[in-house]
Amino acid sequence: MRVCVVGTGYVGLTTGVSLAFLGHQVTCVDWDQNKVDMLAGGHCPIYEPGMDELLAEAAGNLTFTTSYAEAVPGADVVFVAVQTPSAADGSPDLRYLRAAAESVAQSLDHTFTVVVNKSTVPIGSGNWVDAILRDSFAQRTDRPAGCEFAVASNPEFLREGNAIHDTLFPDRIVIGSDNPRSLEVLNQLYRPIINQTFTAPSFSPRPDDIAAVPLVSTDLASAELIKYAANAFLALKISYVNEIGQLASKVGADITEVARGIGLDQRIGSRFLQPGVGWGGSCFGKDTAALIATAGEYNYDMPIVQAARDVNQRQRAIAVERLQDELRILKGRKIGLLGIAFKPNTDDLRDSPALDIAQLLLARGARVKLHDPVAADRFQREHPDLAPCLSETLDGLFDDCDAVVLVTEWAQYLELDWSKFVGLMRTPILLDGRHVLDADRMARLGYKYLAIAG
Ligand code: UDX
Repeated sequence: MRVCVVGTGYVGLTTGVSLAFLGHQVTCVDWDQNKVDMLAGGHCPIYEPGMDELLAEAAGNLTFTTSYAEAVPGADVVFVAVQTPSAADGSPDLRYLRAAAESVAQSLDHTFTVVVNKSTVPIGSGNWVDAILRDSFAQRTDRPAGCEFAVASNPEFLREGNAIHDTLFPDRIVIGSDNPRSLEVLNQLYRPIINQTFTAPSFSPRPDDIAAVPLVSTDLASAELIKYAANAFLALKISYVNEIGQLASKVGADITEVARGIGLDQRIGSRFLQPGVGWGGSCFGKDTAALIATAGEYNYDMPIVQAARDVNQRQRAIAVERLQDELRILKGRKIGLLGIAFKPNTDDLRDSPALDIAQLLLARGARVKLHDPVAADRFQREHPDLAPCLSETLDGLFDDCDAVVLVTEWAQYLELDWSKFVGLMRTPILLDGRHVLDADRMARLGYKYLAIAG
């Protein structure tokens, strides 16, 4: 099939490259000429494991352009995957989505094109995009005869750092439209994934236990709500384990054991019960805010989702409280933060707990040093105010430190020769912000091991 993808961010690029890998003819359009040039030259502008390799394997079916007129005509499916940043009130800013829909409408010429909202958009955006497409199309003097189109929603559930795996081997595919023909086209587009008929790339092998991928084919509003409801649920699952974790500290329980004990109940499940400094990233904060904003439009409040957000914010403050309890005085202390990215295997810093923790410590007069194996350059570019706090080396971070906090559980940190660094510290306090280090081993090496929760 012929596919156009508008926007080459995490979602658009992964969608375009994966569909090209599966044999579809894909053109990706982005207004950023530098990005297009980079991608056309086979270089991936984002840090995502396996993406360079997949780009190379799919190159024969992939084109990159800045021109809608080159990308949209003839496409069976147009994915719109542009950014939808949060406005001040938490609602998504839809100006890029509007501009993309207008541009797509100017170039539609096929007998039937499905225009798919792939960006995380507020519930009801499908109808809104449909109206923009129809208005813009009606204004064209060169409207081709027999050209039809319809809007669908196809939310993505990919995790950064696992984007290729999550796209090729998803738990489910959700498609929503009020037009049955669109659902049929998308069903056909995703057949290789649904039936798992493609040869898996060597760098992203097929999981042993995957059978046919369930397809949820539904109406537009339901597909849109599924995306928000899924992300909010995952966010509140993490906040729940973090809330229980604080109680565990008080009653003398071990949260890792508690999480294991509840996660083995198959109705609960063990994933997303890892306690720590909480969630960050581009989705959970934004999507929970958007869900609450949407509900507000109906005069409906969502106390559970709001509580998940509050608990998550509190976790960041708790990290600072733990240090203060231990050091008594934070003023003048040197605190090292290991990890700046919001999670391992990405250089994404959006809503990263490390940034908030650093700011809270600075506000209390501490000196802060941050280290990250991958996100350091991006950190310097995007956070010039904090850039002087960057430590290029681990020696520089540990040297004369009063406490070190493991904020992001990069494999490099887990495999660190911790014995090398303990002697560099002024006081060897180690706060494990992700509950991933072996407390006994760290104590044997001479660290005073602290965890966020009990
Ligand atoms: C998330 C969703 O998983 C994905 O389905 C959606 O489409 C986009 O948002 P992502 O933001 O890439 O993906 O990261 P994810 O792996 O879900 O982690 C989110 C945050 O939660 C990270 O900061 C992570 O450190 C934290 N987390 C995750 C925990 O604190 N505990 C856990 O048990 C799991």
